[in-house]
Amino acid sequence: MSIDTHAGLHWLSDDVLEVGGTRFLLSVDPEVYTVHPATSREFMLVKRKEMVDWLVDRLPPEEISTIFEVGLYKGGSTAFLNALLRPEIHLAVELEAEPVTALDEFAATAASGQLKRFYGVDQADEIALAGILEEHLEDRPLDLIVDDASHLYRETRSTFEVTFPRLRPGGRYIIEDWNWAHMDEDLWQYAGGYWADRPALTNLIVELVMVAGTDRSAIAEITVDRDMVEVVRGDRSLPTPFRLATAYLNRGLRFRPIL
Ligand SMILES: C[S@@+](CC[C@H](N)C(=O)[O-])C[C@H]1O[C@@H](n2cnc3c(N)ncnc32)[C@H](O)[C@@H]1O
Repeated sequence: MSIDTHAGLHWLSDDVLEVGGTRFLLSVDPEVYTVHPATSREFMLVKRKEMVDWLVDRLPPEEISTIFEVGLYKGGSTAFLNALLRPEIHLAVELEAEPVTALDEFAATAASGQLKRFYGVDQADEIALAGILEEHLEDRPLDLIVDDASHLYRETRSTFEVTFPRLRPGGRYIIEDWNWAHMDEDLWQYAGGYWADRPALTNLIVELVMVAGTDRSAIAEITVDRDMVEVVRGDRSLPTPFRLATAYLNRGLRFRPIL
């Protein structure tokens, strides 16, 4: 049975959906998503259905014509956002230098405007990110930013500081899987934990909450869901980079990543 929840989006089951003729298989199981080959007609989305529903609820296509995305993997979320929202400009950055053939083929036939891929770019490279935005956005603001890349505190913070000022007032910044340090799974909690020596991404979420609590004209609203965070841009002009440490009051105390 097919269920429509959004223009052009059809759920075929809880882990298979179609948008505009492109099929997406959902899995968060590494034994599935690492081996499944992507093609330009069928991608793997490393997400659960509730994450996709959460995203779709927040993304009215009529409000989104420019997207910046970090973390492509096999191109699943990029193809999904592109097919769903049909943006005029969609810029997507990935650390791995090897192009994703399925995504390149998808981009060549995409019904939307430009879908530009930038491989071999580290999300912590502020100069590279600023250069991509400068060259390919021209003077247009961004409507949506999605970070599903390293999930590491410093790298994710760096991307936020350099790209958030480019969002329009009311534009959305989404950080996925912020909660890896709190996931109830052996990989994250036991035998040392996969990133036991790295600061949790939670530290960044705490800083963003402090900015929201200090200055609504910078961060108008923040919503923290189990795996996803949505930050809505306020209406004042922000410097680039927007250094978070200067953007919240904390009785003169400096925040250090403590988790
Ligand atoms: C979770 S996967 C992205 C999954 C994809 N958004 C989806 O749902 O289909 C994370 C991706 O981020 C990339 N990545 C990791 N560290 C990065 C960094 N520092 N800069 C840019 N990309 C990075 C990884 O190579 C990987 O392809």
